[in-house]
This record gives sequence, structure tokens and C-alpha cells, in this order.
Amino acid sequence: MKRRIADKRYNAYLAGGRPQHRPTTVAPPGLLAPLGDELAASVARRTRHLADTLAPLAGAPFFCRPGFILYHGDCVAALEKIADRTAPVALTVTSPPYNIGKDYEQKTAWHRFVDWCARWLGLVHRVTREDGALWLNLGYFEVPGRGLCVPIAYLLWDQSDFYLLQEVVWHYSAGVTTRRRLSPRNEKWLFYVKNPGAYTFNLDDIRDPNVKYPNQKKNGRYRCHPLGKNPSDVWHYPKVTTGTKRSSRERTAHPAQFPLGVVERIVRASSNPGEVVLDPFAGACSTGIAACGLGRIFVGFEIRRDYCELSVERFRAFENERRRYADRRPGEAPAGG
Ligand SMILES: C[S@@+](CC[C@H](N)C(=O)[O-])C[C@H]1O[C@@H](n2cnc3c(N)ncnc32)[C@H](O)[C@@H]1O
Repeated sequence: MKRRIADKRYNAYLAGGRPQHRPTTVAPPGLLAPLGDELAASVARRTRHLADTLAPLAGAPFFCRPGFILYHGDCVAALEKIADRTAPVALTVTSPPYNIGKDYEQKTAWHRFVDWCARWLGLVHRVTREDGALWLNLGYFEVPGRGLCVPIAYLLWDQSDFYLLQEVVWHYSAGVTTRRRLSPRNEKWLFYVKNPGAYTFNLDDIRDPNVKYPNQKKNGRYRCHPLGKNPSDVWHYPKVTTGTKRSSRERTAHPAQFPLGVVERIVRASSNPGEVVLDPFAGACSTGIAACGLGRIFVGFEIRRDYCELSVERFRAFENERRRYADRRPGEAPAGG
């Protein structure tokens, strides 16, 4: 068969020039910028206070630094102890196990999985402040006899008292390929709030400056906001890559990391500096790095000790990168590679 994909007449990438491969960093520059003395001191003070409040309920953390508290253990058991006593969480950003047989989960009947999710979603609701939010990342699974790639969001969307504001589609370009159906290239983020009448949404902090016609006017007035456009409900962020030569510097040994760029946008939009950001299924602590990098206070739970250990290693690498970033010469880009 003729390789049409190698011909400029058919392949738009070859015709228009391939987009350049961008070097990656341990974390995006937005997470490496210094916090400023006042915010850094306030984060340190609030972290100590929160760790003291949680100590009689959740025990000693596995690791605790200003802006970053990680517990080793089952989030359901821990949240049950916390939920009646305190509700400090401004934002939860999480991706639970999808019940698809990954090595960090025990596969079970789909309806049992839904019941389990309803339980922890209820607990997350209870530890969330009145003006708080939940961003829930969900993929697909098989419902035997009914469907192969059933969006988990269809089964979970109303399993808690949170109010669903909207669904965001996270699109990426690489992934498994299929022959008898379309290759999957998206997951969903469900954006919930506790109170639709009063919640944080910092649109100006996440505006997209890549506007095609920035100076276009209507009736003498610029059409687009000076900081950029609303980034819409379809987001393109590449998955964290693996493999010799193309592995991202964000990559850890965790098999299901989400990219820091996505969490950065969510944390900026749905929380403020000094507030508490929770991830009950912390994994490699991507939520933790983004939250801490933006001057929030991360609280995470992770059931596997080896993932807690790799998260601590990742946090230390992040801190080193942050120091290097602060010491760099004016105009110098963060280290890529
Ligand atoms: C999809 S991964 C999360 C990955 C994370 N978003 C990241 O970027 O690194 C889900 C994680 O939840 C953890 N987990 C599963 N059940 C748990 C439980 N009951 N309590 C706490 N953690 C749990 C798994 O070990 C796994 O690391």
C-alpha cells in the first residue's frame, strides 16, 4: 500500500512544517516562580495549623513541608474521621482508580465501584467549605453485556450532593490505537461546586492569550479581553510521555499521572493562595506539586507506600528546580530536557 502519510499533498503536518518538540521541565514555569515572603510565611503558618488540627484525626503525616502534607493510608477511613470535625477544603482535584485492573486497584463489579465512589464523594463533600469546588477526572470502563467504553462520568455525575457546573473535555493526541472503533483521545473533568451561588472562579488567572485576531474591534471596542479568551470547555494537554528519549521530565514511575499543566489551570481557577487543596487519591502527587507551587496547601492521601515514597522524591526534585529557577539570571529559561 502506498504510504500516503509520507506525502506532503496528504499530510498537513509535512505541508505546514511539523510543530517543534518542546523541551519539558520538572514542572511548568508557572509553578516554579517564587511565592514572595509574605505568602511563603503565611503558607508555612497555615500548614502547621492544619497539620496540628488533623493530627488527632488522621495521625502523623508521611511527609510534611510548608504547603504540602501527605498521608499514607486509605482515604475513606481517614476522611471518615475528619469529616465530622473540620471542613477546611477549598478545592479537591482528583482522579480515582477507574476499576480497570491497574496494579494499584482491585477490580470489582461496576455497581460496587459506583457505591464505593458515592461513599468517598460524600466524604469529600463534607470536608469541603461552603464556597468550595471539586474537579473530578474520569475515563471509561466496560459494563459487561452493556458497553465497552462507558464514560464513568455517566455513572458518577450525580452520586454526591455537589452541584455539577459543567463537564470539561481533556483532549490529548497520543494513546492506544484501535481497529474496530475510534482510538480514545479524551477524558473528562467534572467541575462541581458546593454552592452554585457562591464559589471561586478566577477566570482572569487562566485566560488564554493565544487569540488569532487580538486587535479586532466591534463598534470601536476591542472584541477580546486584554488578558485573552476564556479557555473554553475543551482543553488540549499532552499526556505525560514515557519512553527512551521522549520521556517527559515530569514523568515518575507512577502509571497514571496527570500532567501538571492541567492541574495548574484548575488550581488557579478554583482556589486562592493560602487555601487548602485536597487529593484523596494522590498517586504521584501531581495535585500536590501544582497546589504547593501556587502557594496553596496540599493535603493528600495515598494507599501505597511506594507511591508515597516516589512523591517525596518528586517533591524534593521540585523544590530543587524551584531554587534553581529563583537563582537563574534574568531572561534565562527554566532548564529543559
Ligand atoms: C489514578 S491514580 C492518581 C494519580 C494522580 N492523579 C497523579 O497524577 O499522580 C489513583 C491513585 O489512588 C490510589 N488509591 C487507590 N485506592 C485508594 C484509597 N482507598 N485511598 C488512597 N489512595 C488510593 C492508588 O494507589 C493510585 O495511586
